[in-house]
Amino acid sequence: MILLTGGTGFISSHTAVALAEAGLPCVLLDNLANSPESTLQGLARITGQAPLFVQGDVRDAALLDSLFARYPIQAVLHGASLKAVGEGLAQPALYHDNNVSGTVTLIRAMERAGVRRLVFSSSSTVYGNPTLQCLPESAPLVPLNPEARSKVMVEQILHDVAASHPDWRVLSLRCFNPVGAHPSGALGEAPRGQTLNLLTVMAQATAGQRPPLSIFGNDYPTPDGTGVRDYIHVMDLARGHLLALQQLLQAAAPPDARHRVLNLGRGQGISVLQLLQAFEQHTGYRVPHQWAPRREGDAACWVADVSAARQHLGWQAELGLAEMCRDAWRWQGRA
Ligand code: UD1
Repeated sequence: MILLTGGTGFISSHTAVALAEAGLPCVLLDNLANSPESTLQGLARITGQAPLFVQGDVRDAALLDSLFARYPIQAVLHGASLKAVGEGLAQPALYHDNNVSGTVTLIRAMERAGVRRLVFSSSSTVYGNPTLQCLPESAPLVPLNPEARSKVMVEQILHDVAASHPDWRVLSLRCFNPVGAHPSGALGEAPRGQTLNLLTVMAQATAGQRPPLSIFGNDYPTPDGTGVRDYIHVMDLARGHLLALQQLLQAAAPPDARHRVLNLGRGQGISVLQLLQAFEQHTGYRVPHQWAPRREGDAACWVADVSAARQHLGWQAELGLAEMCRDAWRWQGRA
């Protein structure tokens, strides 16, 4: 059985679908701070079974001990983290408490239970504002805000932990820009409060649920002047997390590979304007938009070198812009 922290969050909930399809049972833990309980109904509709869910916080050591005692957990997917850059700047202690202390609490509970297989959902945010066109995992880590720093700290802590005991096997997956939704339309990104992620904003603006999309900046050093990102369908990410968990459950790792860091992206840079054109093409709707100044803290370009994930995980993204746009639009139109 797999424990999914942040179980009702965007990445963990979609990974729960992939696990169910692979016949791997899981228990979802979430404090519902940034995702609704209705995610569970969406999961039940897709998998045909009510998910095993525990409402609680990853910083609650006693709760974690009880979960490890109650369920035959073999590995953990750790996806419980706060991820809004602006909120992290305003409340750094909250971010470090949740993201860093939460991970340490989880690791200590895992050690008490003798469970030493962990997949950590990290983020491309660790690369800061890179100058490289294509980012290998060895690119410099330049976290620019508390949220990004918390991700780097967690990776470093995991590195120390993995080195401390021969049974530890850890994979940190640096997810690039997750977008899209489950193709059924029953599951998608459902944060509390306003989301700032581009494709969701685009879909909501098109549906008339918010003002026109503001395109932040037209003077970036990119081919059309707008920001470039490596957008990846959340179901591709879910499959990547599944493969990572399956790999950890297999044979012991060589000492130099107890903690491996892998980028999960498509390796293809897409600008804001390109995504807008793709959205219009694949949904048949016009996206109302306007130009706006750059958003503070935004990088010009984040694109993954994805060769390591292909080599070590046998994983590569399969879904393209058409699926990302259609699934995001289907999810947005569910109401
Ligand atoms: C954001 C976070 C990042 C986090 C990631 C996770 C910031 C600065 N960065 O990344 O730390 O790890 O989400 O999902 O918040 N854009 C617009 N108009 C909009 C929204 C976005 O033009 O209304 C542009 C942005 O300038 C950027 C691109 O779209 O060029 C993607 O933005 P977004 O979806 O917010 O992701 P990131 O900024 O890459």
